[in-house]
Order: sequence, then structure tokens, then C-alpha cells
Amino acid sequence: MDYLQIEGGKQLSGSVTISGAKNAALPIIAATLLSDKPITLTNLPNVVDIRTLLKLLTMLGGSVEHNQTTAQIDNSTITSTKAVYEIVSQMRASILVLGPLLARFGECEVSLPGGCAIGQRPIDLHLKALESMGAVIEIKGGYVHAMAPKGLKGAKIIFDKITVGGTENILMAAALAHGTTTIINAAKEPEIVQLCEMLQSAGVTISGVGTSELTIEGTDQTPLSFEDIAIIPDRIEAGTYLCAAAITHSSIDLERVNPAHIRATIDKLEFMGCTFEIEAERMTIHAPKRLKPVNLTTTEYPGFPTDMQAQLMAVSVMTHGESMIEERLFENRFMHVSELNRLGADIWLKGNIAAVKGVEALYGADVMATDLRASSALVLAALVAKGTTNVHRIYHLDRGYDNLEGKLLALGASIQRKQEAH
Ligand code: EPZ
Repeated sequence: MDYLQIEGGKQLSGSVTISGAKNAALPIIAATLLSDKPITLTNLPNVVDIRTLLKLLTMLGGSVEHNQTTAQIDNSTITSTKAVYEIVSQMRASILVLGPLLARFGECEVSLPGGCAIGQRPIDLHLKALESMGAVIEIKGGYVHAMAPKGLKGAKIIFDKITVGGTENILMAAALAHGTTTIINAAKEPEIVQLCEMLQSAGVTISGVGTSELTIEGTDQTPLSFEDIAIIPDRIEAGTYLCAAAITHSSIDLERVNPAHIRATIDKLEFMGCTFEIEAERMTIHAPKRLKPVNLTTTEYPGFPTDMQAQLMAVSVMTHGESMIEERLFENRFMHVSELNRLGADIWLKGNIAAVKGVEALYGADVMATDLRASSALVLAALVAKGTTNVHRIYHLDRGYDNLEGKLLALGASIQRKQEAH
């Protein structure tokens, strides 16, 4: 197992190129199941989660040629519609194959994902919506068995709660359904917008893209023919590098970024005293010596993303004053708190609210990564901690950050990947 060894106290400078968005790429890879023609995806992030989902496609009988940031996928040869536990248990996002497999083949089995470190994360809203579209669903032996032998029917879906994955699954299912589907209280994340654009490129009529009400005209189970697609920049990776600059009081440039997608993170960092030069696809952040504390509440896009909460918390640890951070999306997304406190942070947790008292300094220690974004928060804190910090269990980071240590090293951080002795 690998860990990261970081010597804190280095200023960062230079520029970092942002990779494609993992959370845009995953539903797009799943959506290729709606097609029986080859498609090429470019600007994929080179991360484990992408490899896991591509492996699932090959296990279903698809043909995949993957080379770091590009994948050529041909799903004309699918022979199985069963997404097995071995893959789904490694990555919850595998549940995204449920909608497209069911819509195209009329039947599928997908292992139930179960809970995860950041919370319970049920899929009840996905299943209820598919049932409204005529699917018959049974849960047996840890699998969701979904059937719609005559195809799915368009329906009016009102999500009780905004769900990114639920919206994606239903968009993909609706694309091949008979008739019109309306999704009310849909998620509006940029990743959803790109999925809609991909479906539109294949001739699916969708209105309301980027709003909370989407209307999709199904193709009566006719498989789609997609245009090749380049994945949008990763807004969470971009936000993480902005936090790296902020916590180290540095100025850095971000290349291949979409500043419009990270408005909420920019606003918080601006409030804390950072300044920005923003162009269409690049930006520069200048961070001051003294950062101001900040209050934030995570919400759905375009609000402050839960996927940036841990990183912003790491930055707030080094401010002069008290910050309040409220997590509204996931009940257990504060696993980084006790690890940050091991580095000398002063964070007090009550329910879903963290009160952060700024400290003068952090001190290097051994810490353990618990989930993807928590891991990046520990790396950020380590960049300023005095002495050496070892961040263990970084397989979480490898799932979603493309070459994090290489990019930080190029910016001037002192960071090395090492192997645990045992
Ligand atoms: C997506 O997860 C992202 N994953 C997550 O990114 C992100 O944190 C999350 O959206 C919120 O922005 C991918 O895109 C692959 P949800 P998802 O369904 O789709 C509840 C990262 O670090 N809910 O929008 O699983 C759920 O428990 C990750 O990259 C139900 O109750 O999130 C949560 O409280 C982690 N029933 C809330 O809704 C359901 O059927 C939002 O979850 C579905 C969801």
C-alpha cells in the first residue's frame, strides 16, 4: 500500500493543468451502454474509478481500448447485463449502469452498493423513479433485479430529494423509453448538463437542460449513436488546487479550468481574502498572508459543493478567527476532522456542524485518509504543517485525483509517494 510523505512549509508557484472531471466521465461511460456504435471519449482523468467502470463494461461484453485519457468503447457486443458485486463494491457509481442497461436490454441485475464512509447513501430514489417508468424491481441476494421486457414508459418523476446519480440514471433510462419523461427537482450540476448534451448529440430531445425540470423524449428503445465527447474539466480538482494555493499563501495558475463551475468555491476564497484573475479557461489565484475565517453550508449546485467541504475546512484551520461549516448532504462526511486535529487543528464537531478555531501552526504527524475528499484535505493541511506528515491509505486519493503528487511537486511542494513497510 502507498502513502504520501509531505514536508510542510513550501510556497507553491507555477501552473497546474486540470484533468477531466471524474464525476462527469462516470455517467458518460455508463451512457455508452445506450449505444451499439463505437464512441471515443477524451480528456478522461487517469484515476482508478474510471478504470473500474471501464472494467465493468468489458465484463458485460463491451470492447474497451483505454489509454490514460482516451477510451474507445464499443458496446455492440454486450453479452451480460449483470453488474457484479466485485465491481460495485469497489465503486458505488457502478449503480449508474442500472438505468441504461434496463432501458436498452429490458432486464438487468446490479449489485446493491451498500453504505460507504461518508454516509448511508441509499438508492431508493433511483429505484422508485424506475418503478414509475414501469420497471418491476426485486431485491434478492444483494442484487437489484430490474425488469421491463416491453421497455420503460415515460413518466413524471418528482424526486423527493435532489440526487445527482438518480437524475443521471433516469435521464439515461428516459432517453430510450417509450414516450416523454419529466424529471422535477432534478440535479443541475455541470456533470448533468454534459450528460444531457451527450444525449442531445445523439438526437434525444431534452428541454430544461441546466434547470431543475428536465423533459426527455424517449427513442422507443432505439439504441443511440453518439458523437465523440471530451470530458469537462474537474471542478473539484480545480477547487482543491485553489485551496492548496490559499493554505500556502501562494499564487498559482490553473489551466484548462471552467471558472463558471467553481463560482461557489471562488466566492468563499474571495471572502477569505484571496484575489483572482479569471479568463475563459484559465485563472490565477493570489492568496494573502492572513486568511479570514469563513462560514459555509454545503448544498446542491450551484451552492457550495459537499465535495469541497473537507478542503475548505483544511484552509479554515489556518485562518485568524472562527469558521462554521455545516454539512447538509452526507451525514458522516466529517471523518477528516479527527485527523486534522491530530495535526494540531482545533475543530469541534456537533452533529452536522463543525466549529473551526484558527490556529497559528500545524505540526506534521501520521494521518489516515478515509475517503476521497477527506484525503485531499489532509494533503492540504500537510502542505503547511511544520515537519513531516505521512498520509496513509491514499488509495482513496488515487480513485479520484489524477497524479495529485506529481502536480503538487511541479508546483513546488515537497511530496513523495512511498510504500508502507508491511
Ligand atoms: C454524487 O454522488 C457524486 N458522485 C458525489 O461525489 C457527490 O458528493 C454527490 O453527488 C453530491 O454532490 C458521483 O457523481 C459519481 P446524490 P451521488 O445522489 O449521486 C441522498 C466524490 O467525492 N440519496 O446526489 O451518490 C444521498 O444519501 C463523490 O467525488 C437518497 O437518499 O449523490 C445524499 O444524502 C462522493 N436516496 C443525497 O441524497 C437516493 O436514492 C445526495 O446524494 C439517492 C440519494
